[in-house]
Amino acid sequence: MQTSRRLFLRLLATTAVSRCLLPAVQAASNQKTLEPVAASERGDLRLALISDLNGPYGSTRYSPSVAAGLDLISELKPDLVLCAGDMVAGQKISLTDFQLEAMWSSFQSTVLNPLLQQGIGMIPTMGNHDASSQTTSSRYVFARERHQAEAFWDHQKNRLGLEFIDAKQYPFQFSVKQPGLFVVVIDASSATVDRGQRLWLEQALASEFRSPDDCCVVMGHLPLTAISVGRDRAGESIEDAMHLTDLMQRHQVDLYLSGHHHAWYPGELTGQRVLSLGAMGNGPRRLLGTQRTSDPSITLLDLFQATKAVRETTFSLKTLEPISLDSLPNQLSAKSFPTLDRRDTNWSYGS
Ligand SMILES: [Fe+2]
Repeated sequence: MQTSRRLFLRLLATTAVSRCLLPAVQAASNQKTLEPVAASERGDLRLALISDLNGPYGSTRYSPSVAAGLDLISELKPDLVLCAGDMVAGQKISLTDFQLEAMWSSFQSTVLNPLLQQGIGMIPTMGNHDASSQTTSSRYVFARERHQAEAFWDHQKNRLGLEFIDAKQYPFQFSVKQPGLFVVVIDASSATVDRGQRLWLEQALASEFRSPDDCCVVMGHLPLTAISVGRDRAGESIEDAMHLTDLMQRHQVDLYLSGHHHAWYPGELTGQRVLSLGAMGNGPRRLLGTQRTSDPSITLLDLFQATKAVRETTFSLKTLEPISLDSLPNQLSAKSFPTLDRRDTNWSYGS
């Protein structure tokens, strides 16, 4: 009830109506940092973007911030959830098949089923803790984890509310078409997105099923460059990312969506719009060049089809309030990584 009341007050406080008519409510809700965005002005398509839910290795439990995020999603009622990976706590050789199955079972009962029961579909992405694509001597280091993830998501495939276009390598790489939206998921569960996958991505983006009126999102777990402190090292973002960035720009990708760095940052990389999602669960990190740990968060994307306008709103799962863009540095830079510029959270797609 407490969460519902606070959300209700916040939504009231962010509407134009409330700004005009309800100053007392606005003052009472103490919303000093709210941006002039109205979370209650629903887009024609509303997407909730989440990432990095996992607890410690082998854990079948989720942190309170995941529960808070799920409550918030229930109230915001998106059409679809896009998850940028790390849904379970694998990437450890000693985990048994029984433990891996138990983690996916917990994900299903704690996260996936409650969303699906509300009519909210989900597009998953494999993260390094779900199904790492790291190899040694041309073999997957975490082959059992990849097998378990594949079995789990195969079983869920027809429940997700998705229209698949190319799902030959689902759940690792696939494309999905929803009204007004075209999403291509890549396997960036390690730093290697190889030539074969880049060729596939190029074909997926050129699909006849993609409409010029679609907002086109590519989603992978690792980002294209360093975002957070401690992740500004080799292996924590995609290798040869500028080649991939160029490919996405040539194919007019509107947004590259990633997780793994556990810090929210809407950025622009040599003209390519990107979005690093905050962690929904444990382990929030500091953005490069900052001292404060990022809050756990989720991001809401409202798409307005007549104007092709997009509004992003990112909610802290600590305060349940929108986080101000002004609280983020203008630029993220780290030695040996491309610099990322902060961008606006209101933008247009297809342009
Ligand atoms: Fe990760």
